[in-house]
Amino acid sequence: MSKPKVRTGIVGAGFAASFHIEAARRVHGADVEVIGVQARTSESTEGFAAKHAIEAFTELDPLLDRVDVLHVCIPPALHEPVAVAALERGIYPIVEKPLTGYFGTGAADFDGRTASMTEARTGALASIERMRAAEAASRESSGARILYAENWVYAPTIQKEREILEKTKGQILWMHGEEAHSGSHAPSYGHWDQAGGGALLGKGCHPLTAALYLKKVEGRARFGKSIRPATVTARAHALTQLPEFVDTGHIRADYVDIEDFGMIHVTFQDGTIATVFASDIVLGGVHNWLEVCAGNHRTICNLNPSNQMQTYNPVESQFDDVYVVEKIGTKQGWALTAPDEDHSHGFPQEIEAFYRAAAHGDDVESDNELAADTIATIYSGYVSAANGGAEEPVTLL
Ligand SMILES: NC(=O)c1ccc[n+]([C@@H]2O[C@H](COP(=O)([O-])OP(=O)(O)OC[C@H]3O[C@@H](n4cnc5c(N)ncnc54)[C@H](O)[C@@H]3O)[C@@H](O)[C@H]2O)c1
Repeated sequence: MSKPKVRTGIVGAGFAASFHIEAARRVHGADVEVIGVQARTSESTEGFAAKHAIEAFTELDPLLDRVDVLHVCIPPALHEPVAVAALERGIYPIVEKPLTGYFGTGAADFDGRTASMTEARTGALASIERMRAAEAASRESSGARILYAENWVYAPTIQKEREILEKTKGQILWMHGEEAHSGSHAPSYGHWDQAGGGALLGKGCHPLTAALYLKKVEGRARFGKSIRPATVTARAHALTQLPEFVDTGHIRADYVDIEDFGMIHVTFQDGTIATVFASDIVLGGVHNWLEVCAGNHRTICNLNPSNQMQTYNPVESQFDDVYVVEKIGTKQGWALTAPDEDHSHGFPQEIEAFYRAAAHGDDVESDNELAADTIATIYSGYVSAANGGAEEPVTLL
């Protein structure tokens, strides 16, 4: 039997677009034809198109005319309008994290460091409502839905923990985790009006969503109902912007109006807890992990680095053409080399799941409820951080 054909397009031609197209080309469950790409500048659009042998589009509409699925790999402020435009045409948008957020007032002097976080939360929740309304309408007419690209949900370590929870009916008492590195490469990151926040949103969303997901899994396994977040307390700091910060050049330090360190502590509806750290100030490569302390077992999920492979390289230049591991500062000496980093991060697995949803109607684990709970939790975290860490309720949509 031949596989269903799915025509796809990509908006954005940067870091995320690259791993999305690689993953789309690894899909087994559908016959994926990548039609083309549209990005901000013709130079980047054409460069990406030539590299991947696809068409370059100067406008979004002609690309939308030709596709069934759209990979939304652009700065967070653009996720909502582009995803809604796709849904209105019956196209499945695969939306990168964070699903959406609050991107300021539009005023030229908007500053995320002094903005009202209560207004930020109201704005972020309103954005989610609009996206969900567009999705509800498209589900009625064409069946298209939002596919939320949170790769941590599909990482093999997190999926193994899902299996353990389902089979042992364990109760998670505490999770703690982190996503950190020495600073995002994206030029839009650092500007609240494009990114919707700093480390807490851009990085914290990964381990936080994984933690929210595993509590959903636990509830589903034990009594057929998700356990969702109830309250948060959080802190946010801009360490590289401190007047006393000593800049040695190893950490990106040109952020405009965001935090580069965040800590968020979640209390779930059953009183159990999760604590997540997110930062842009950690050297030595990406530091992505989640530890699960359940009443009946304990699991440490090392997404990156892991010690599955270690290399020793006595001469830096020998590895010039060898990819070692994300955001490592040097390739000399011992390294925790990643044999297939995309797989450890869950990229091909999430994209496979999304094409199965688009082609066969399969359910997805990373759905819009999980995305909405993440945004609601983080923006209540921003309200808490603005109030010195006071506990804040999480609004469930
Ligand atoms: N899941 C992950 O691990 C992961 C990693 C990195 C980035 N991301 C997410 O992917 C998204 C993109 O981030 P990135 O790192 O690829 O950024 P990037 O800066 O590398 O690329 C952004 C791309 O968006 C394009 N763009 C900007 N404005 C546009 C517009 N108006 N119309 C069309 N294209 C436009 C730019 O031309 C550029 O090609 C963000 O939401 C980010 O949070 C996710």
